Amino acid sequence: MSALTAFPEETLQKEAVGSPCAGFSSGDRKRFVIVGTGARVVNFLDPILKDFAESSTVVGLCDASPTRMRFHLDRIVREYGAAAIPAYAAEDFEKMIREQRPDTVIVCTPDTSHHEYIIRALDMGRDVISEKPITTDSVKCRAIFDAVKRSGKTVRTTFNCRWMPGPARVRELVDSGVIGTVRHVQFEEMLNTSHGADYFRRWHSEKSASGGLQIHKSTHHFDLINWWVNDIPARVFAFGELAFYGKANAVRRGEGDRTGYERYTGAAVAPNDPFQLDLDADPRLKALYKDAEAESGYIRDRNVFRDGIDIEDSLSVLIKYRSSAIASYTLNAFCPIEGCRVALTGDGGRIEYTETKYPDVRDKDGRKEIEHGGVRMDIRVIPLFSRGYDVPVLTGQGSHGGSDMLLQEQLFAANPPVDPLGRNAGHEQGAASLLIGVAVNHSLDSGQPVEIDSLLPLNPDAQKFDDLI
Ligand SMILES: NC(=O)c1ccc[n+]([C@@H]2O[C@H](COP(=O)([O-])OP(=O)(O)OC[C@H]3O[C@@H](n4cnc5c(N)ncnc54)[C@H](O)[C@@H]3O)[C@@H](O)[C@H]2O)c1
Repeated sequence: MSALTAFPEETLQKEAVGSPCAGFSSGDRKRFVIVGTGARVVNFLDPILKDFAESSTVVGLCDASPTRMRFHLDRIVREYGAAAIPAYAAEDFEKMIREQRPDTVIVCTPDTSHHEYIIRALDMGRDVISEKPITTDSVKCRAIFDAVKRSGKTVRTTFNCRWMPGPARVRELVDSGVIGTVRHVQFEEMLNTSHGADYFRRWHSEKSASGGLQIHKSTHHFDLINWWVNDIPARVFAFGELAFYGKANAVRRGEGDRTGYERYTGAAVAPNDPFQLDLDADPRLKALYKDAEAESGYIRDRNVFRDGIDIEDSLSVLIKYRSSAIASYTLNAFCPIEGCRVALTGDGGRIEYTETKYPDVRDKDGRKEIEHGGVRMDIRVIPLFSRGYDVPVLTGQGSHGGSDMLLQEQLFAANPPVDPLGRNAGHEQGAASLLIGVAVNHSLDSGQPVEIDSLLPLNPDAQKFDDLI
C-alpha cells in the first residue's frame, strides 16, 4: 500500500477562507513543491505561507515519511490557517510533478539523495532549489552538471551563511579594497558539545549519508572562503580523525558507562550523561521523529558513543586557490564553545571576523542549562601600518541575524531586489565548496594532496569565483 493512503486526493489545495493564501489565484504565483519534510523544511514552507503568499505557493509535499508530512500539514493549518497541500509518497515524486506542475522543486532531503531529486526534476523541465550541500560526491555532482546542460534548467544552492550580516559585511570590506588582494585565510570552526554532538546521533554520522562534516557542515565555510576571496579552489590537503565521539574514544577516556545503550530515549541512561536526548520530553521531536520510526527506522537520538560512526570530528585542511590565496581551515565538533574565528590577510592589511554563539552549559543532572542565545558577530579591520578599528555589524530581525529572510526574499518574492554581493549561488558555485569536501575525503584516504580538477573540472575559463554560475 502506498504511503499516499494517508493523504487522500481531497487534500488538494483549496484557497481557505482566512488563510494567508486567500485572494491570490495560484495561476499568478510561482508554484513550488518540496521534497523532504523533516526539520529544515520550515525554512521554505513557512515563509512562503507566511510572508510570500502573494507571489509564491506550495502545491505539493513529498517525503518517505507520511507521519512527518502529516505533522507539517497539521501544523500549517493550525499556525497559518493555510489550506491543505497535496502530499505524495517518495515513489510518487514524478506523479507529483505531473499533477501539480510546479515551476520549481525544492530539495530538502538528506544530502546523499539530493542528486536523485535534482536530476529527476531537471529532466522533467523544472528549476531546482537545493539545500546545501548540492550533493555528496563528485560522481553525483557530474551527473547534476550533465542534467543542467541537457535540460537548460537551473539549480540554485541555498548558502544561507552568505546572507548573514557578518559574512556579508566581510565581503563588502574585501570588495572595498581596504586590505588589498586577499592572500591568506585562516578559518577556525568550533561546534560545541550540544550542536556538534547532534551530528553524531543521526544520518550525518554515516559518511555514506552525509559525506562527513567536511561536506555536510564545512560546505558553508568553504563556500564563504571561496566567495570572500573571489577565487576558485585548485588543490586540497587534509588530516582528520574521529577523536572524541564513538565508543572506542569514550572507553579510552574511562567513560564506558556512557556506551551501554544504542539510543537515549527509553534507555537506562548513565547518571548525568550530558549527551542524552529524550525524544519523549520534546513534543516536536517526538511527533517528527519518534512517532515516525516504524515507517523508516530513522532513529534521531542514537548514542554518540556507539560503534559504527565513520565520520571525523576533528579536521585540518589546506586549500590552494587558482589565482592568489591560500587558506587553512579547522573544524572541531567537541568544543566547549561555539562559533568561528576567521582572519583574512591581504597585501594591504587584515580583517578579523568572529562569530560567538552560546556555550553548552549543563546542570548537575546533565540537562541543558542555557538555551540558544543567538549569535554575536564582530569585525575588526587592521590596515597595514595603521591602528585597527571595529566595524559595526548591523543584525536584522529574525533567524540568523535576519539572513534567512533576505534569502527567502530572493527565492520567493515576485521581484527580488538585485543583490550587489552576488549571493545567489548556482550549481557551479554549489559544486566548488562540495568539491573541497570531496577532496578532503580523498586526501584523508590517500594521504596526498588532491587537485580539484581531477574530481570535476570547474569552468576552466573562470578567472574568479563570481564567474562561476
Ligand atoms: N542551510 C542550513 O543551515 C541547513 C540546516 C539544516 C539542514 N540543512 C539541510 O537540509 C536538508 C534536510 O535536513 P533536515 O535536518 O531537515 O533532515 P531531517 O532528517 O530532519 O529530514 C529529512 C527528511 O527527508 C526525508 N527523506 C529521507 N530520505 C528520503 C528520500 N529518499 N526521499 C524522500 N524523502 C526522504 C525524511 O523522511 C525526512 O523527513 C539536508 O540537506 C541538510 O543538509 C541545511
